[in-house]
Amino acid sequence: MIARENGNVKTERDLAISAAPVLVTGAAGYIGSILVRRLLDLGYRVRVLDRLMYGDDAIRDILSHPRLEMVVADFRDRKVVARAVQGVSAVVHLGAIVGDPACAIDEDFTIGTNFEATRIIANAAKQAGVQRMVFGSTCSVYGASEEILDETSALNPVSLYANTKIAAEGALLDMQDATFAPVIMRFATAYGHSYRPRYDLAVNVMTAKAVKEGQITIHGGEQWRPFVHVDDIARALILALEAPIEKVAGETFNVGSDEQNYQLKEVGEVIQCLIPHAEVLTNDLVTDKRNYYVHFTKIRETLGFTPIHTLKASVFEMKMALDTGEVLDYRDRRYNNHQFLSQIVHEVALQPQPFGAGRIAIMSRMEQLMASACDD
Ligand SMILES: NC(=O)c1ccc[n+]([C@@H]2O[C@H](COP(=O)([O-])OP(=O)(O)OC[C@H]3O[C@@H](n4cnc5c(N)ncnc54)[C@H](O)[C@@H]3O)[C@@H](O)[C@H]2O)c1
Repeated sequence: MIARENGNVKTERDLAISAAPVLVTGAAGYIGSILVRRLLDLGYRVRVLDRLMYGDDAIRDILSHPRLEMVVADFRDRKVVARAVQGVSAVVHLGAIVGDPACAIDEDFTIGTNFEATRIIANAAKQAGVQRMVFGSTCSVYGASEEILDETSALNPVSLYANTKIAAEGALLDMQDATFAPVIMRFATAYGHSYRPRYDLAVNVMTAKAVKEGQITIHGGEQWRPFVHVDDIARALILALEAPIEKVAGETFNVGSDEQNYQLKEVGEVIQCLIPHAEVLTNDLVTDKRNYYVHFTKIRETLGFTPIHTLKASVFEMKMALDTGEVLDYRDRRYNNHQFLSQIVHEVALQPQPFGAGRIAIMSRMEQLMASACDD
């Protein structure tokens, strides 16, 4: 759609940008830190809501951006959320406890974060008159299946993580009406370098082990999994934000591409081809039961989404980052959700607002610095 204003032709994007900020939860994370930069580059205003569980490294250099507002707070807190959604044009909800092992550490904490908080955010958004809420779900909801899967396929979750995402999807879709339009985005397993590196994801950790240890072990190897580059996920999220509402309201999209369904042993072959000194071992101990081959026709045909990144190029890119020392130690706990959360979960699970109880921190970087000086 286009509109005319003072003789200038304005596109849908111009209108969205000139108006209110987009609220992005989990913006300091692996996917969010790329999405926020893409949005800022496109001219959007962005409000970030993140408790910075893994620190602020991934967004520190953009905190002073004039179109970025930072809310350092816990979105399990209703009051925080009620303030954070005021005046935004849309919500992209990415914040979560991510990954099967991390979610298994403290089940109540996981359910509170991934399911209950999603409902809190959706209710607050709806009450505030925010129509579009794009939700970061996962193809892990398909679990273990021998079928070729699409968005209508039966779900067969094999973890609490997947179950919380299914419950959250259901809660969002139940809330859909003329005023509220949830959009469910089921991401394939991400790979690639990000401002918040994650070396607990299959391709990333296999690449790092191959480069640094000269050996990787694949458990099983026959399992099918769809993969997608982290930057392509950010591109897909922007398509979901910008699509006409009637195309996406109440819709579920798998995010990835048919071509990037790989068996884990094939991932090993790609890595070995680019890192020839690495030895690839396989064993029969299947530690991860997920096995799913997914179709991505809907997102291609409805939103025109096709990835621009390939597994091979990304493995090469990560190899370079590891070789040149851009990533100093891939085993650093900060890059592994399960290892990091195991250490801090008792602190973070109990405190709904760890960064200043009762305070809702919607502020520019400058205000934030002033406030932190006062708080001390
Ligand atoms: N990375 C993948 O392969 C993948 C695949 C499928 C789906 N997803 C989904 O995409 C989303 C983003 O994943 P990611 O890999 O970027 O995650 P991540 O672990 O890198 O980042 C999660 C972010 O959420 C924030 N957060 C968590 N709980 C919070 C709370 N209570 N209040 C405020 N902030 C909180 C954390 O501080 C962190 O910055 C998640 O919803 C995840 O389930 C990711």
